[in-house]
Amino acid sequence: PFTAVWAATGRRVKVPAHLSLLAALRRDGIRVESSCEAGICGTCRLAVLGGEVEHRDSVLTEGERLSSVMACVSRARSAELVVGP
Ligand code: FES
Repeated sequence: PFTAVWAATGRRVKVPAHLSLLAALRRDGIRVESSCEAGICGTCRLAVLGGEVEHRDSVLTEGERLSSVMACVSRARSAELVVGP
């Protein structure tokens, strides 16, 4: 589990082990587009503004991984992950 922080509003969203980052954000009313929900299409990409990502997608390049996360499959290594559109 970790906490996602939606940078635009400062809203804090708990992401339990059984929910994806995408699902947890949506449960809290934050709209994030998605398509494949399998880490391959790139639709659910969010910017990472703080924290460390555990990348589980197969679409981002190493360079993109420095500042982006695919919300449908990837998670946080840190206790908090600050994200935005
Ligand atoms: Fe396709 Fe997340 S919805 S990569």
